[in-house]
Amino acid sequence: MIRWGIIGTGRIARSFAEALRGNGSVLGAVASRSLEKAEKFAEEFGFEKAYGSYEELANDDSLNIVYIATPMSAHYENTLLCLNSGRNVLCEKSIALNCTQAEKMFAAAHEKGLFLMEAMWMKFRPTFLKVKQWVDEGRIGKVQFIKADFNNFVPYDKDDRLFKAECGGGALLDLSVYPLTFATSLLGEPVNISSHAHIGRDGVDLSNEITLEFEGGAFAATTSGFEVQNRNNAVISGDKGSILLGDWFFCSAECTLYDLDGNAVEERVFPPEINGYEYEIREAERCLANGLKESPLVPTESTMRVMAIMDRCREMWGMKFPQEG
Ligand SMILES: NC(=O)c1ccc[n+]([C@@H]2O[C@H](COP(=O)([O-])OP(=O)(O)OC[C@H]3O[C@@H](n4cnc5c(N)ncnc54)[C@H](OP(=O)(O)O)[C@@H]3O)[C@@H](O)[C@H]2O)c1
Repeated sequence: MIRWGIIGTGRIARSFAEALRGNGSVLGAVASRSLEKAEKFAEEFGFEKAYGSYEELANDDSLNIVYIATPMSAHYENTLLCLNSGRNVLCEKSIALNCTQAEKMFAAAHEKGLFLMEAMWMKFRPTFLKVKQWVDEGRIGKVQFIKADFNNFVPYDKDDRLFKAECGGGALLDLSVYPLTFATSLLGEPVNISSHAHIGRDGVDLSNEITLEFEGGAFAATTSGFEVQNRNNAVISGDKGSILLGDWFFCSAECTLYDLDGNAVEERVFPPEINGYEYEIREAERCLANGLKESPLVPTESTMRVMAIMDRCREMWGMKFPQEG
């Protein structure tokens, strides 16, 4: 049995704990910076142990893997803490603030012979896997355009990690990571990147648009931000047809394949069994059970490719996190 630990008790930690419980996984321990919060969380979800510091959890030899659910700015430190204590790690997206940090994290995992993966849950969901299969089988021919948006209206709150530069805030690392992962998973490494952003008063991007150009003349266009709300679907257009992923494309239960006349040729619906996080949990457990140091579905290379695009975008915008000097 794989025993799980969780670091952080915020929004996503709750969803993940619910999925662990629903999946019948072993809820080993949870850690918070406050013992009281950890104990409350442990009691609610049924964790065996609660710790009032991340260090104590990292040192718990009974744990096989730690899920890191802290803000982006803490991923580097928390991941290294766990790896250096001999724990495998599933780290929330975006895996780090920048490529430099992410490279060091993967190097540490490699050196210690441990598993490290970004929790890019979209890529384990049956909807994404079906879409990828349709594209790989040539069902829509040569892909020419990908359009994917993730705009989630969030009222400004200077204390929310999303708006705080010191927490790795901004739409790029929080939202754009999905459409960028989506596009590059289907089209590979871009040969050109162009991008613009609306930078807010706290120095992080509130909205951005990114265009990727790929070898052979294909393009992906993405928008992300906290300033508007839209349906957030994704369209992949090829010379033989197109594919639509429904609202909130990265966690959509539905995908539809269209021919060139716009007729729906195939529709698939994959309702989540628990809340959608169960697929990445099962994949991490499968990897550990089989001694894999990374999942073929979210290899180091694909995470680093997206980190590099995000670094390049911030360079174009002149946006730096305080940790970057
Ligand atoms: N996969 C998804 O669908 C999804 C959805 C939302 C977010 N995420 C990712 O999950 C991570 C956490 O996001 P969230 O929305 O859960 O954030 P959140 O609600 O703010 O929770 C983050 C938790 O991290 C801990 N923490 C450690 N250092 C902190 C600091 N300096 N400031 C604030 N909290 C700190 C806190 O737990 P303690 O106080 O208990 O120590 C806090 O509850 C981010 O990387 C985000 O990108 C993923």
